[in-house]
Order: sequence, then structure tokens, then C-alpha cells
Amino acid sequence: MKYEICEFNEGDPRWAEVVGFFDRHCSGLPEFVDGYDQRDSRVLVANTRGAILGVLRLIVIPIGPEDDLPSVRIDGEEVLQGKIKDFFVFPEFRRRRIGTSLQEKAIELAKSLGCRQLVSFSYSHSRENHALKLQMGRGAA
Ligand SMILES: CC(C)(COP(=O)(O)OP(=O)(O)OC[C@H]1O[C@@H](n2cnc3c(N)ncnc32)[C@H](O)[C@@H]1OP(=O)(O)O)[C@@H](O)C(=O)NCCC(=O)NCCS
Repeated sequence: MKYEICEFNEGDPRWAEVVGFFDRHCSGLPEFVDGYDQRDSRVLVANTRGAILGVLRLIVIPIGPEDDLPSVRIDGEEVLQGKIKDFFVFPEFRRRRIGTSLQEKAIELAKSLGCRQLVSFSYSHSRENHALKLQMGRGAA
């Protein structure tokens, strides 16, 4: 199946479709994710012309405050990280490397946004997410 992964934003003609997908499969798409000193928010979408197959949302936050610590700084400059807040592939399309492609694109995007690291959180029962991260050579957390 031919699909592409692109960044979508509010100006995109398919934005309402993306928001609907987040409403149905993630916990919605609020502009600001509660509890974070959010500097940016980006949405990657795996899609064909007719359907959304999966999504990933990355926010940019400073390193430190999330753990109630002062911001990490280098030469006075705050050090930023990317954090993956939503990551979902529609069940019918799983095990076709779509999740991996979304993660690879997120790594590129985080680098382009000046992030020093990319982190994500998943619950211990999320076996497929842990398996994917290990398969990509990242620590499962
Ligand atoms: C996690 C998720 C996004 C993975 O998407 P995906 O497109 O199926 O992932 P990929 O096809 O890229 O998987 C890559 C590798 O990860 C591992 N993997 C993925 N799903 C797996 C599963 N159910 N069991 C074992 N290994 C799995 C495999 O090594 C797989 O490679 P392989 O198919 O060649 O064996 C998807 O399962 C999902 O949406 N799950 C529910 C939501 C979720 O848990 N989100 C993350 C936490 S917020």
C-alpha cells in the first residue's frame, strides 16, 4: 500500500479529518498539552489520499522542568527535547512499518527543531510500543 508521512497543521484542507482521528483514537488534540512548558507542537500523519492510517504528535519542551528541576542550559541557552505525546496506527494497518516510519520522521523533525533528545512514555502494558522501540534500537521507557 502506498502512503506518505507528512506534517499537517491547521491550515491544511484535511485538518478536520486529522482532528477527528485524534478525537476517535487518541485523547483529542488540544493546542497545549496540560502540564508541560510547551514551546511547539507538531503533528505527523501517515496517510493515503483517502484515509489516515496513523498519527504521531511531538511537542517541544525544555529539559528539566518536567521533573521539577531547573532547565538544563548550555552556554546560557535552554536545552530542548522532543516528547512524543500521541502515537497510534489504525489496527487494520499495523505491522507494516507505518509506526516505525512515523518514529523515523519524528527523529528528523526533532533534530530540525533543535532538540537534543527525543523521548516518549508508554505504559508497561503497551507491549507493541516497547517492541517497536527496542526494534529501532531505543531503550523502552
Ligand atoms: C505501537 C504502534 C503505533 C505500532 O505501529 P505499527 O505500525 O504496527 O508498528 P511497525 O509495523 O512499525 O512495527 C515495527 C516492529 O515493532 C515490533 N512490533 C510492533 N507491534 C508488535 C506486536 N504487536 N507484537 C510484537 N512486536 C511488535 C515488531 O518488531 C515490528 O517489526 P515486524 O513487524 O517486522 O516484526 C501500534 O501498535 C499502535 O497504535 N498501538 C496502540 C497505541 C499505542 O500503544 N501507542 C503507543 C503508546 S502512546
